[in-house]
Amino acid sequence: MQYGYFDDDAREYVITRPDTPYPWINYLGSEDFFGLFSNTSGGYCFYRDARMLRLTRYRYNNVPADAGGRYFYLRDVNDSSHGADVWSPSWMPMKSKLDRYECRHGMGYSRIFSSRNGLAFSQVSFVPLRDTCEIHKITLTNESNIDKNIDMFSFVEFCLWNANDDMTNFQRNFSIGEVEVVTAEEPQSGEGSRQVRSCIYHKTEYRERRNHYAVWAVNVPITGFDTDRQSFLGLYNGFDHPDVVFKGKSNNSIASGWAPVGSHHIKVRLSPGEAKTFVFVLGYCENPQDQKWEKQGVISKKPANDLLEKYGSPEAANKALGALNDYWENLLKRFTVEAEDKKMARMAGVWNQYQCMVTFNMSRSASYFESGIGRGMGFRDSNQDLLGFVHLVPQRARARILDIAATQFPDGSAYHQYQPLTKRGNNEIGSGFNDDPLWLICGVAAYIKETGDYSILDEKVPFDNDEKLADTLFIHLKRSFDFTVNNKGPHGLPLIGRADWNDCLNLNCFSSTPGESFQTTANFESGVAESVLIAAIFAYVGPDYAEICRRTNRADEAEYAEKQIAVMIETVNQHGWDGSWFVRAYDAYGKKIGSRECEDGKIFIESNGFAVMAGIGIEDGRAARALDSVKEHLDSKYGIVLLQPAYKDYHLELGEVSSYPPGYKENAGIFCHNNPWVTIAETRLGRGSRAFETYAKICPSYREDDSDLRRMEPYVYAQMVAGKDAPRHGEAKNSWLTGTAAWTFVSISQFILGVRPMFDGLLVDPCIPSDMKWFNVTRHFRGADYRIAVDNNAGVEKGVKSITVDGKLHDGNVLPVFGDGKTHHIIVTMG
Ligand code: BGC
Ligand code: NOJ
Repeated sequence: MQYGYFDDDAREYVITRPDTPYPWINYLGSEDFFGLFSNTSGGYCFYRDARMLRLTRYRYNNVPADAGGRYFYLRDVNDSSHGADVWSPSWMPMKSKLDRYECRHGMGYSRIFSSRNGLAFSQVSFVPLRDTCEIHKITLTNESNIDKNIDMFSFVEFCLWNANDDMTNFQRNFSIGEVEVVTAEEPQSGEGSRQVRSCIYHKTEYRERRNHYAVWAVNVPITGFDTDRQSFLGLYNGFDHPDVVFKGKSNNSIASGWAPVGSHHIKVRLSPGEAKTFVFVLGYCENPQDQKWEKQGVISKKPANDLLEKYGSPEAANKALGALNDYWENLLKRFTVEAEDKKMARMAGVWNQYQCMVTFNMSRSASYFESGIGRGMGFRDSNQDLLGFVHLVPQRARARILDIAATQFPDGSAYHQYQPLTKRGNNEIGSGFNDDPLWLICGVAAYIKETGDYSILDEKVPFDNDEKLADTLFIHLKRSFDFTVNNKGPHGLPLIGRADWNDCLNLNCFSSTPGESFQTTANFESGVAESVLIAAIFAYVGPDYAEICRRTNRADEAEYAEKQIAVMIETVNQHGWDGSWFVRAYDAYGKKIGSRECEDGKIFIESNGFAVMAGIGIEDGRAARALDSVKEHLDSKYGIVLLQPAYKDYHLELGEVSSYPPGYKENAGIFCHNNPWVTIAETRLGRGSRAFETYAKICPSYREDDSDLRRMEPYVYAQMVAGKDAPRHGEAKNSWLTGTAAWTFVSISQFILGVRPMFDGLLVDPCIPSDMKWFNVTRHFRGADYRIAVDNNAGVEKGVKSITVDGKLHDGNVLPVFGDGKTHHIIVTMG
């Protein structure tokens, strides 16, 4: 069943009923301040770090689902059949019956429209560019033919900043909550357009070591307020039955300890046809250390005033929303797609890129599946996220690369994660994931191909966050490359360490204690377990490293690198081929994993996709054989599963992969991240139909009608879809924060549609189903726009017969770097 539809012109997904099979969310915010926003106004917001600087509380895994948000309650005093009519215009938290409901998730903003008994409600929520607040603009319209007297109550629940502490340390937290309230008067006549604001300030811990507070303000005078949760709700009530709202009167409570909240009470009188708009601002405010106080105990309101001055009117809010729309319009102009297949075009042209922005910003920190507490920025994750983002804002990709590289150790290994706020490596998880270093080469190569900016290689970057150990980024790349060269096992394949890309293939862990971490309890340092996947990654990214060396006058290093790559490929040929597919790994006893010799886990997706991406076995037919085996053993209706047969039992020597029930996660789930590796591999073989089939199977827009089974948002990729061994085959989980976003964007844009940045220009080399007769792509590339029209009337899957550039025949299929700020027209004829 469908729960909504794509409005392609508006670039919005329109949700038409609130009871979606899971909260369908959106992300507000572009750079430092972010909000998660569900289709029923649930979620929370934070400044830079979802753990350390969370402004509002959110209860994960709660009953009912999606509890907590920016809520508005309405109370129609006229409708006195039951005293008064009280409802939630965003459906939750009261699950109110609505005459109309619609939620539109757009690029960085969301809107909710609803109505009940002739009162229309409209909410638009967004984070303005470059500022630290959420804006919620609310309009109430009287669509009935009688006067309406409405009480509107706002409600947010403040988090005591550190979300982990907030959920655990009650003996302290229940005594530290503090607020201030400043209410506004109606402007007097003669005061002109004096700005009015009614502000609730959350200033817990401000008296000591914080110099930031939160403000929750509205641009009108209020009738009352509440800042103490119990006073607002009643101790034994849920969000669905706030005492104050039912009573129609605020308690003007001032929180002291316990749980600070922010609620405004606004009385709205509307004659028939009349509409009124209110602007609510939820902001993060910071003061210099020496300007914290207005007077003793009274916080300095300057940063809050500045924020509210800027956004505290409907006109200002509209302007800020307009600026946000322009920002996205310009970003998405950098890569657009037109095609007959609208499901593909809207994903590749809009939603996939949008998700890439979100994964770039969040890494794996805050979603409805990641609590924002545990994991920060992943070394391998953030490097891969760059691949789908670098064409959007290359400067931010550049800065990110330097941040990531600073968490590398001098021997080339790396912290597996780092914290977004401090940018320091995370000691709890440490290092030892032996694929990590190679992803840095992958990210930097993508950046250079996109921008042609080799100067990044000369940037001085610390090792282990220590300035004293700083060296050029180029040296970081060399250490990355050499880390693999220097850490090989008995077969000459790379040692796997705690895990490679597959976090759950823990071959040196041997954990038999419940609750122990599979990744950090590496208690069996065999020095033996090896990864064929790392070998393949090395063979894939290595040539880019060699090419970078050559282009920066390091011919000797290039030659050395090429030799090492050749040695690695030879090793894979010798020890990584199993007869019909590539082996996955060797365990701590030197036994094969991902081989026909195994009982379970005979074949894995990762080493096969990546080895073929790297070109291994193409010439002698093994690549085609491997991909045929993938199709035969791993394919399913909803995508390619990670391995087969699924592990039925827990294997001490394999670790977390065998801890999952068959069909879930890494144990034979459809782990979408690695499906595009197969897609790309198929394009290397020129098999356009199969490549597209593997693309479409995991692409959410193709499963819109199947939402009851898939459950996740039809406009975003999910990390995992339950595999064929699982009882709920086809059900997705963990939407949004996944490397799937970047890799599918690479697979569709660069390998299927085939518009691929190269060191010297823009390659056009499509590999499509033969019945795709045409498509158009516009691509912004190094300062010029390329309008590319592809004609496949010949009905081939691959092959470019001719190209014209601005009307002139062009030799080869690499388009030059124009860099002239102009638009160039390119016609590509396949055949
Ligand atoms: C995997 C999870 C695993 C986690 C451990 C992730 O990459 O997908 O299954 O539990 O790593 O940190
Ligand atoms: C999710 C993790 O974020 C990523 O780093 C890892 O590669 C995959 N899971 C596979 O385990």
